[in-house]
Amino acid sequence: MATKTGEGFSSSFGAIMAAAGSAVGLGNIWRFPYICGRYGGGAFLLVYICFVFFIGMILMMSEFVIGRRTGEDPVKAYPKLKPERPAWRFVGLIGLITCFLILSIYLVISGWTLNYFYESAVGTLASIQDSDFGVHFNEFASSVWRPVLFIAVFLALTALVVIGGVEKGVERVSKLLMPILVVLIFLLCIRSVTLKGASAGLTYLFHPDFSKLTGEGILAALGQALFSLSVGMGVMIVYGSYLPKDENILKTSIWITVCDFFIAVLAGVAIFPAVFACGQDPTGGPGLVYQVLPVVFNSMGTIGRVFSIIFFLLLTLAALTSAISLLEALTQWLSGEKIKRTMSAIIMSLIVFVLAAAASFSFGDGIWSGFKISGLQIFDFLDKATGTILPPVCALLTIIFFGWVMNKEDIIDELSNHGTIKVGYFKVFYYFLARFVAPVALLVVLVAGIKN
Ligand code: PFF
Repeated sequence: MATKTGEGFSSSFGAIMAAAGSAVGLGNIWRFPYICGRYGGGAFLLVYICFVFFIGMILMMSEFVIGRRTGEDPVKAYPKLKPERPAWRFVGLIGLITCFLILSIYLVISGWTLNYFYESAVGTLASIQDSDFGVHFNEFASSVWRPVLFIAVFLALTALVVIGGVEKGVERVSKLLMPILVVLIFLLCIRSVTLKGASAGLTYLFHPDFSKLTGEGILAALGQALFSLSVGMGVMIVYGSYLPKDENILKTSIWITVCDFFIAVLAGVAIFPAVFACGQDPTGGPGLVYQVLPVVFNSMGTIGRVFSIIFFLLLTLAALTSAISLLEALTQWLSGEKIKRTMSAIIMSLIVFVLAAAASFSFGDGIWSGFKISGLQIFDFLDKATGTILPPVCALLTIIFFGWVMNKEDIIDELSNHGTIKVGYFKVFYYFLARFVAPVALLVVLVAGIKN
């Protein structure tokens, strides 16, 4: 039990599953494969590995340290570590705002996914002609009520888990769902790579084509690394505050990072060989999952319908554990303001629902598509703010705080569990990365992201 409220993860396994549940989500299964394919496959992968392990993992570790050291939400954690510089609370606040915005857009995509799971199960997708999937997706996503209905159902599920509490809700559900997710993704991989003509998909995914790895691709790799590991918005500070005191933060961060990375690669292995085997276009971008994969599933006959159900279930569950972490972060903060957990979760859900509905109405040819914020539809504006601007800002400030403001002795003490475990050369290595490498890399992304 780490926090003042007595909330916390009960076991190391539960803690790892919950944090991995936050990390593994739409970012791994829906987003990673198409951007990896777009920016040079293996070449992108190499850069991505560096960002994930040398920047993302450091951030995860530092957020865990900040969270567990203080047992506070992100807004209170920073000033608690540096009372003489209370302005650092704004970093926590930016993180919470980012969580709020990400959750609203995440809910829209989760709602689509839940709808596709439903349509797979009832057979609607199986009855659509291959050439009509693009129209089907656009009509659905731009319609008024159906997406909102699925957002509401998905959000209700998320809120129920959060209301259940950290141990009995978040931890229990993550311990159940994460292993299921791993089994489902392996099933899909096996099917995909055993299809005739699958090897072209593996080549597309892994063969390094450095000519496609543009500056934009490098920025995309860093943005993706932050998003995928759920760092740069304080969520891991929240989960850090729930970590058991004897948890080895270094080991936990490594496990979660490795797990998140492999699930992203497995998602690519599940998707591209099947797309190639069925002669579909691998550059489908964000629409790949909703417009191209259903064609692939339909071409497999009856078994394709089973795989379609499995795939969209997988995606829904992955999205659920990530959405839970975002709502948990908002709920923890509000319940620290003397409002009960249940009430906090409900209030936050209602507010975020309004924004998610607005984002949904603005998508594609939706009824609010004409409404623009700095030239962008609400959905695109949120996508840009949460993809390229806010997380790097927050990540940069977090890592500056960790590397330059926080007491070095406190960091070592927390990482070594008060001197009971050895942190060895990691101490020097990571401290160097946190002080010099990560801040510079993040600054470059940020400047480039704003210029774009
Ligand atoms: N990591 C999640 C994914 O890859 O889908 C998304 C996410 C969850 C981002 C939680 C940020 C966050 F705080």
